[in-house]
Amino acid sequence: MKGFQVAVLGAAGGIGQPLSLLLKLNARVSKLHLYDVAPITPGVGVDLSHCDTSSTCVGFAGQDALIPCLTGCDLVIIPAGVPRKPGMTRDDLFNINAGIVKTLVEGIAKACPNAFVAIISNPVNSTVPIAAEILKANGVYDKRRLFGVTTLDVVRARRFVAEKANGVVRPEDVDIPVVGGHAGKTILPLLSQVAPAGCLSQLSQADVQALTARIQDAGTEVVEAKAGGGSATLSMAYAAAQFAESCLRALSGESVVECAYVDSTVVEGLNFFASKVKLGPTGAEEVFGLGPLSPFEQEGLTQLKAELKGSIDKGVAFVSAAA
Ligand code: NAD
Ligand code: LMR
Repeated sequence: MKGFQVAVLGAAGGIGQPLSLLLKLNARVSKLHLYDVAPITPGVGVDLSHCDTSSTCVGFAGQDALIPCLTGCDLVIIPAGVPRKPGMTRDDLFNINAGIVKTLVEGIAKACPNAFVAIISNPVNSTVPIAAEILKANGVYDKRRLFGVTTLDVVRARRFVAEKANGVVRPEDVDIPVVGGHAGKTILPLLSQVAPAGCLSQLSQADVQALTARIQDAGTEVVEAKAGGGSATLSMAYAAAQFAESCLRALSGESVVECAYVDSTVVEGLNFFASKVKLGPTGAEEVFGLGPLSPFEQEGLTQLKAELKGSIDKGVAFVSAAA
């Protein structure tokens, strides 16, 4: 199996450490590079390097180490940045995380401009447009290679659908597109398209609305349960490891379908949008349309447009203002 060089930026954090562990266990990873501003990062690298898998693992700390960390990488995953506390929206993280993502993507533009880039840092609805603008400004933007990671929304939807289906389907066998963006009402699960078809047929319209709301508010559910201690880390690491595996399979020549927040023409007026995409060796080779929506989903799509457009525009304006 071909091995790939993968970097995690923000590797010493709540997501970064378990994600790095899962990547150390992935046989498709030959070199694992961990980067963070936290001084513990080389130690995290030494710790993981003792796991008896074939890949090597090195930790890099501090800004001077960013370019050495990134050079030669095929896939870069970014969970760097601050998480929410109760009462905050993801957009409340913009002022800190926008600058962090900008700096890290500037490094990617210089050191590994052909890498797949997967952004976890919130607000994803804005940080991905920021990354696109930075890559454009450096003349290396390939829209097929930039992804906002929305896999956790799909993971949650699979799990919650299986709970509602009363045991007729296992979570891992549920297929459900979650489209739009990654914040509140911009997260739009298409429950009408769930497979196996009919597994939710016993649900009333009120049940469908409640299940939709639970998926949309699941991040907040974790933030409140952690009561000031951060947001989802372990389920996010699990979801990001799934997305990374799909990217590495795609880089190996396989065709893989995943939901992701990408440069898109699926919905007029929204330059970034999450939907199913076909991943291949060059990145998102096809961005799929939404398919038939229920009236409730159509209304949800109408409702999310203004917020998502505002978040995209805010990211673009941030980079213009900094130029
Ligand atoms: P955390 O605070 O535990 O870890 C963040 C890490 O980023 C820390 O180790 C910190 O040192 C590092 N960091 C800060 N500035 C940096 C920089 N300039 N360069 C490199 N590293 C830097 O936070 P966390 O719980 O791991 O969450 C990280 C981010 O992921 C947050 O923005 C959170 O909102 C987001 N998140 C997104 C999703 C999603 O579905 N996309 C899910 C969960 C969390
Ligand atoms: C999530 O969905 O869990 C993340 O976006 C973190 C958050 O702030 O909710």
